[in-house]
Amino acid sequence: MILVIPDVLDADTVKQLRAKLTTVKFVDGAQTAGAAAKQVKHNLQADMNSPDYQQLNNWILPKIGDNPLFESACLPLKFTRVRFSRYRDAMTYGPHIDAPMMGEIRSDISFTLFLADPSEYDGGELVMHEPGGDRAFKLRPGHMIAYPATTLHQVAPVTRGERLVAFGWVQSLVRDAANRETLYDLYQARLSLLERGGCEREADLIGKSRSNLMRMWAEP
Ligand code: NI
Repeated sequence: MILVIPDVLDADTVKQLRAKLTTVKFVDGAQTAGAAAKQVKHNLQADMNSPDYQQLNNWILPKIGDNPLFESACLPLKFTRVRFSRYRDAMTYGPHIDAPMMGEIRSDISFTLFLADPSEYDGGELVMHEPGGDRAFKLRPGHMIAYPATTLHQVAPVTRGERLVAFGWVQSLVRDAANRETLYDLYQARLSLLERGGCEREADLIGKSRSNLMRMWAEP
């Protein structure tokens, strides 16, 4: 399930974040890529050894992780630190699969939070290569995409201006993407029954089923 989550950050927070990022050093993104990804990764990435970086991560991570839609769909257990990248001057990240382990964290879900307005740059779409065809995403600032890290994807070349994004990975309580989708569907179904009113019994049964499936599938 590829999920677009609107308004994870409001306009003011995006502005603050962009201002903070001007004080962080950006280095060649290939430094943090594995051998295969190095061949196709051409971007700039915030230096995680930068003095302001940890503070920045501590400030932004809860704003992403506490989003209710993100929480219910992704069931996050552990997060990597949030990374930041810039693409300009025809920079691109060719087709690749993200590393399965990020240190101690299994990357079940990747997320990308867009920080630049689409009018500021040309190209730079995040393209998912799925069996049914390619899907391209270029979202408004503060909007985020979360997708299974098992997906082959790329970033199209930026031919004008600069693409600025935050991104990272989540180890989910539920490893299997299809199982996570089932839990999310049940969550949504229960909410819409409760909104409709008069379906409390059905809502309870759906809630019970979701909880019991979670007990079967969760790996804390
Ligand atoms: Ni990637």
